[in-house]
Amino acid sequence: MHPVKIVDLFAGPGGLDVAAEKLGVATVGVEWDASACTTRRAAGIATVEGDVRHYGPADFPEADVLAGGPPCQTFTVAGGGAGRRALDEVLSFVKRMVAREDREEIVRDLSKMEDERTGLVLEPLRWALEAIDDHNAPYQAIILEQVPAVLPVWKAYAAALEDEGYRVACDLLRTEEYGVPQTRKRAVLIARKGDEKVTLPQPTHHPYRKGIPREAGDDTRLPWKAMEEVLDRKPPFHVISNYGTGGDPKARGRRSSWEPSATVTGKISRNRVVSLDGTELDRFSFSEAGRLQTFPIDYPWSGRDIGQQIGNAIPPRLAMHILCAAFGWNTPTDDVLRSLERWRS
Ligand SMILES: C[S@@+](CC[C@H](N)C(=O)[O-])C[C@H]1O[C@@H](n2cnc3c(N)ncnc32)[C@H](O)[C@@H]1O
Repeated sequence: MHPVKIVDLFAGPGGLDVAAEKLGVATVGVEWDASACTTRRAAGIATVEGDVRHYGPADFPEADVLAGGPPCQTFTVAGGGAGRRALDEVLSFVKRMVAREDREEIVRDLSKMEDERTGLVLEPLRWALEAIDDHNAPYQAIILEQVPAVLPVWKAYAAALEDEGYRVACDLLRTEEYGVPQTRKRAVLIARKGDEKVTLPQPTHHPYRKGIPREAGDDTRLPWKAMEEVLDRKPPFHVISNYGTGGDPKARGRRSSWEPSATVTGKISRNRVVSLDGTELDRFSFSEAGRLQTFPIDYPWSGRDIGQQIGNAIPPRLAMHILCAAFGWNTPTDDVLRSLERWRS
């Protein structure tokens, strides 16, 4: 397929848009955070600054691909019973939407929900159904990405979209298996209109497991990438997380320069970086944090809370693999992947 244009909901600083632009696919993002929009504009990426809920497919008639990474706090922060309840509520709304229950009633019920963010995860489905029902112009492909806790929602989306004539694939992907120098798991859904089978992108690198050599495993794949391969600072060093692992606040997560980074979060600047003898080194700059997410080294991070913008994003390198799979294209070549290293050449 030859997509004309992607409309990217909850577009953040542009993790997916960077990948799309490097593939030569035009995008426009809808994003309400002023700082993320400042970064996007500095990068020259088309942006509508506003609330996704106030727009719909009619506002982007030229777009034939829908992408989205809605915020996910309800499922992740709430955890336990509250998270489960939020999930059950979302799943029941999915059913009502695909049964084409009265829209105004659904909006009214959504506005009564304890945490309004729960409803945001339903926005891509609203857009997909409106494109079908109101415009008779279904999106040719739909791409969704979120933290692992959202996988059950994507599975419900998958069943709904299959009923609407899409072929769908959805599962958890591990970023280091696509050459990202970071371990991060993401729930990804790819849907494409038509009969041709859809598959998630083929991993290109080995999965990371503590203590297992990077070369071990399937020899059709490359070793995972280490932090020291992408950062312009002298190895070796350790990165010590600000957070405890396994519920123990004293057991700080630790990764070494010869390993992939732990998941890059909005709080990455709180992580300590130390030499092997324990000397404190400079903490990661925004450019370095961006590199660990596979953003170009010269990406024009702007506005406030840049750490959070970086932590929120989908790694562009993973996004490039996902987009190629969604369009039925071959795995991106090394040259195309290398084009992510610089934003403006
Ligand atoms: C998980 S991030 C997505 C990051 C993006 N996919 C990327 O790769 O850069 C979610 C984004 O949704 C934005 N957001 C949350 N609610 C929104 C709304 N109602 N309308 C528009 N944007 C919203 C947040 O500001 C945040 O940037």
